[in-house]
Amino acid sequence: MNYWPNTLWPNSPRLQHELNALALISESPPPVVTRVLFSEADLRGRAFVNNLCREAGLALREDAVGNIFARWTGSAPELPAVATGSHIDAIPNAGKFDGVVGVLGALEALRTLRAAGFQPRRSLELVIFTAEEPTRFGLGCLGSRLLGGVLTPERAARLADRDGQTLDDWRARGGCTGPLAAVPLPQQHYAAFVELHIEQGPVLEQENLAIGIVEKIAAPSTLRLQLTGVGGHAGAVLMPGRHDAGLAGAEIALAVESAVTSTGSPDTVGTTGVFRIEPGAVNSVPCRAWLEIDVRDTQTATRDAALAQIESAAAAICARRGVQLELERLNVDPPAICDARLVQTIAGLCHTLGLSHRTMISRAYHDSLFMAQVCPTTMIFIPSYQGYSHRPDEYSSPEQIEAGVRVLAATLATISNA
Ligand code: GLV
Ligand code: MN
Ligand code: MN
Repeated sequence: MNYWPNTLWPNSPRLQHELNALALISESPPPVVTRVLFSEADLRGRAFVNNLCREAGLALREDAVGNIFARWTGSAPELPAVATGSHIDAIPNAGKFDGVVGVLGALEALRTLRAAGFQPRRSLELVIFTAEEPTRFGLGCLGSRLLGGVLTPERAARLADRDGQTLDDWRARGGCTGPLAAVPLPQQHYAAFVELHIEQGPVLEQENLAIGIVEKIAAPSTLRLQLTGVGGHAGAVLMPGRHDAGLAGAEIALAVESAVTSTGSPDTVGTTGVFRIEPGAVNSVPCRAWLEIDVRDTQTATRDAALAQIESAAAAICARRGVQLELERLNVDPPAICDARLVQTIAGLCHTLGLSHRTMISRAYHDSLFMAQVCPTTMIFIPSYQGYSHRPDEYSSPEQIEAGVRVLAATLATISNA
């Protein structure tokens, strides 16, 4: 071992400076961060991170969907590399830490190892995944889903946003060329993948712990519904004659709540996070509605039962209201089980570093969900203030972030030389 975990100290002020600088590259004014896939802000954010990687002496490669790979070549480049990373895209009205801590924090971990004179045996690779967030195409983890072979290149090519612009249109704007078929990684392409991330929930803060080590990632799913009713004059069309797509949507949103609260499991959650109506005029009966519904549980069977209940409720509501329903399952993913040996290694390193820790479930999904299809995977969580996330006031302190980076640096060094 040519390093000692206790001697690895990140340059925290530099990392904070970079986190703040990236937060200012946003489609919305501070403190709000919005960086939707291949928007101008996302492209500028990518350029910002690419430059930092170059300055750190990492070799850059970008694949056809825009996943970025920044490599520090080890002394045994023929061995599978050890990977880390996360995403820099951000949902509308987000904060500055989701995903970004796992990108800039990982870069700081690599720089810390280099500054300590560490020589990796296996190469170390930072991956910046394309569109972990589902905002543009309704499908989360676009880049890692393709890398993991879970999304076929054919289906990816058919993805379109709400204006009918396809993934090909958007990736051309992002300067990403080449066939999507070249994106999937072979099994065991990496020796391991470890993602640093904010918890996005309250557990670590409530228990006053520095680090969470993820054992399992809950199973996510998304439905997209298009409801077509009959529009008309808000004064002239009497109530018995209405086929109001907005009201059908409202009833479906309530049916989602009822389905997920009646599974008997506190782990089932459902959210109707997208709800748009047309024409959107106060004096016009809504003729069309679009809903996107997110349903999750730690157990696949429980999640699937809730999904089935929501689908049959939607069909019954629309039939009763004379509203036409088109329903698409955008994704129905299994949970990921993390690698027990990696979890144990990280727990040991936390002990060495004197950092309090526990194992936990991730209720949010992450690129790790799909990297687990490629290689042994786990995640390092740091506390989130009040459990806030996907809102501008999400917060982790510089000290909490530094602790996560120390654990990540020690983990990468350990696995690289194992
Ligand atoms: C990721 O952002 C998620 O929605 O879990
Ligand atoms: Mn997120
Ligand atoms: Mn995230």
